[in-house]
Amino acid sequence: MAETATHAKARRPGAAGALIDTILATHHGLARELAGRAGSLAPAVAAADAARDARLTEVAGTCALLEREMLSHLQREETVLFPVIRELETEGADEGDVGMLFSPIVCMKREHLGIDELFASLRSLTDGYTPPAWASADHRALLATLAAFEADTIEHVRKENDELFPMASDLVPAVR
Ligand SMILES: [Fe+2]
Ligand SMILES: [Fe+2]
Repeated sequence: MAETATHAKARRPGAAGALIDTILATHHGLARELAGRAGSLAPAVAAADAARDARLTEVAGTCALLEREMLSHLQREETVLFPVIRELETEGADEGDVGMLFSPIVCMKREHLGIDELFASLRSLTDGYTPPAWASADHRALLATLAAFEADTIEHVRKENDELFPMASDLVPAVR
């Protein structure tokens, strides 16, 4: 638990906790809102217009899966990984804490890839979120929601994968 030279690099005090606060305030609330909006619009759009574009049924199924996966992912970060990072930052860490941190990081990174694949499917099924000329207001709203959701998720995942997780890793000594 002692401060050592090997993990001094991440010791801007409170930096990881502050980044977690930013991620929660900027992305987690918005992700819940957009997942819920897409999850409720998609079945109505499919019911109304799947006869014109059969892919809308698959869009609705993928939106339901995305909503479920995103909500459980946010929950796991908020209840498992983020509290561990906050604790390591405030209480200090030693080599014994490696597993406590790295298992959830590996798990969250895998989930990020899964979420990315769901967005790739949705992008492909909707021609890059482009509404057809005949699209209803709900259909257009669904595509705009998905485009905004994917854009926000790219930045959300970038902050976690490229900033927060390396910062958290630096809290644990003798990992490198
Ligand atoms: Fe997150
Ligand atoms: Fe995440």
